Amino acid sequence: MKKPRILSGVQPTGNLHLGNYLGAIRNWVGLQDSHECLFMLADLHAITVPQNPADLTRNTRETAAAYIACGIDPKRSAIFPQSAVTMHSELAWILNCHTPLGWLDRMTQYKEKVGFSPSKTIETLNSQYSKLNSENDSAFTKRNELVEEWIGVTEEFESKRSKSKLGLYAYPVLMTADILGYHATHVPVGEDQKQHLELARDIAGAFNRAYGTEFFPLPQPLILGAATRVMSLTDGTKKMSKSDPSDYSRITLTDDADAIANKIKKAQTDSDPALTYDEKNRPSVANLLTIYAALDDTTPQQVAEKFSTLKTGQFKAQLADLAVEKLSPITARMRDLMDDHSTLDNLLKDGANQARAIAAPIFEETKRMVGFLQV
Ligand code: TRP
Repeated sequence: MKKPRILSGVQPTGNLHLGNYLGAIRNWVGLQDSHECLFMLADLHAITVPQNPADLTRNTRETAAAYIACGIDPKRSAIFPQSAVTMHSELAWILNCHTPLGWLDRMTQYKEKVGFSPSKTIETLNSQYSKLNSENDSAFTKRNELVEEWIGVTEEFESKRSKSKLGLYAYPVLMTADILGYHATHVPVGEDQKQHLELARDIAGAFNRAYGTEFFPLPQPLILGAATRVMSLTDGTKKMSKSDPSDYSRITLTDDADAIANKIKKAQTDSDPALTYDEKNRPSVANLLTIYAALDDTTPQQVAEKFSTLKTGQFKAQLADLAVEKLSPITARMRDLMDDHSTLDNLLKDGANQARAIAAPIFEETKRMVGFLQV
């Protein structure tokens, strides 16, 4: 029987960190036996925000090296830069012509990226407004204040939006093309990309309806076990992020043993020295326990149990040891791969060829359905 086909990728924007490893890449490794896998370096997505060209090139190699060092096997899975397979951009154009703007307007990642404050949306203002009793004077004043605020929020968003780029808006359509262009049926994604995958299903449906076919399968999200959400080391309530200005907020896959130990030592905890797992009230301590658990394939509760006699400071030393033990083989392998560009580039070239071979017949058929004259 044919194996189901998977496509996923991350943007090669550098600072690949523990959250990317534990929350995404590590989970792909086990899929390689049961699925036909394509893992791209999403460089076309990366340029939806400004990139330094030399950095983009270096980060593309570095991300590819990270995939391989984490256990993605280039003999079994296609690893390639998205831009090397022209189908992605070409199919995205066709899909753009089937995507209502209203669907894109709903995308929360877009709104966040252009700076639409999600905590104070127009919806919350509206609901406050509708709760007011219009009969008394203070309600009248309050209503005026809310209207003022509403205008402010809208104007601020419009001004940011008008400067934002078309590519950022169309980002989820490109992502749809990535998936549909290979007839991928399963897409391992994190929580933050689920809405984009819903959109991919909607666009596939719209295309199929427009041409009276079932040509594009509706892709399913693949939620892998309990996805590990790794939080910032300097703020246990924020996700670990590539773009956090503080280097101490994340452990990257290029950190050496000293850097890893140092960052864990400096990591945020709270005023209670006891080691207990309480995600809600002690997020920064819970984060350290979660990281330990993920690296050790166990649960944070079990880790807290195991080290219940230690103070949080002492536990940090245990975590540093484990993190160094688990990550140093990966960082060493990455460094070797990065030292030999020609081998790495050749692997990516092979990956791109494999990807093209899968994509070509699907894209030819798409163009035929649309009615493009084949010359
Ligand atoms: N948007 C994804 C991210 O930032 C990366 C991505 C691009 C992707 N195309 C994709 C993921 C297709 C899954 C499938 O994480």
